[in-house]
Amino acid sequence: MSLPDIGDLLAAAEHIAVLTGAGMSAESGVPTFRDVQDGLWAKYDPMTLATEEAYAEAPDLVWAWYLRRAQMIRDVRPNAGHLALAELAEFKRVSVITQNVDDLHERAGSTVLSHVHGGLFAYRCFDCAAPWDEELEVPETIPERVAPPKCADCGGWIRPGIVWFGEMLPPKAFQDAVDASSSCDLMLVVGTSGIVQPAGSLPFAALERGKPVIEINPEESQLTAYVTHSLRGTAAEVLPQLVKLARGEG
Ligand code: OAD
Repeated sequence: MSLPDIGDLLAAAEHIAVLTGAGMSAESGVPTFRDVQDGLWAKYDPMTLATEEAYAEAPDLVWAWYLRRAQMIRDVRPNAGHLALAELAEFKRVSVITQNVDDLHERAGSTVLSHVHGGLFAYRCFDCAAPWDEELEVPETIPERVAPPKCADCGGWIRPGIVWFGEMLPPKAFQDAVDASSSCDLMLVVGTSGIVQPAGSLPFAALERGKPVIEINPEESQLTAYVTHSLRGTAAEVLPQLVKLARGEG
């Protein structure tokens, strides 16, 4: 399927769902998780940083890790792929479903329907779950361990609102993602290995209805064999071209 053919599919679609993963933010300078060289999970053991047990055992180590990630996200900018999706929403109904915990889609101007894995900028009490919305203090240089803030209600440690391994996805966020995947005319899948469930199953809610699912990824993923067409390319290269074609330009 050629790029113009895919542009025609986009132009014909009324409601486009977009499932994004870490590859969406890669060209902003944010490391992905499973890239062999510099993926976060290649360098750090997720089981010691992204689980409830890890936090209960060493809240200061885990809190410092998330402070570093928050600082990294604050220091980068949305890329041309994020901006293209925001532009697409100017003339199409677009439902952005992201596995990413960064706020780059929002900073590019997109409204995000669903952060299925939560967000790096939403915090709550580890014990009583009371939301915490104080100003996040990020020291210039972040030591290896930083004591998390404490909950004003119960004195518990504050934790990031990210879904850790073994935790349930936020029910409303996931239901919204399922609803959009089950009602869209076309789905774009951008920058995900498709490994993590249940997010990786969302494209099948479109495929099962005979709707086209187009993947954008420089490499094969676990979804490549199932999608309607897999474009070998990056988010920042391909998405702007597709949006131009969807507008009937280029
Ligand atoms: P992965 O690191 O598993 O996969 C990133 C995908 O992006 C790979 O398929 C890469 O080939 C692709 N990629 C890399 N650079 C790209 C680019 N410039 N443009 C497009 N694609 C590119 O990340 P995810 O699939 O998002 O969970 O991982 C899913 C979840 O696993 C994450 O949400 C995280 C992690 O544990 C939580 O944070 C809860």
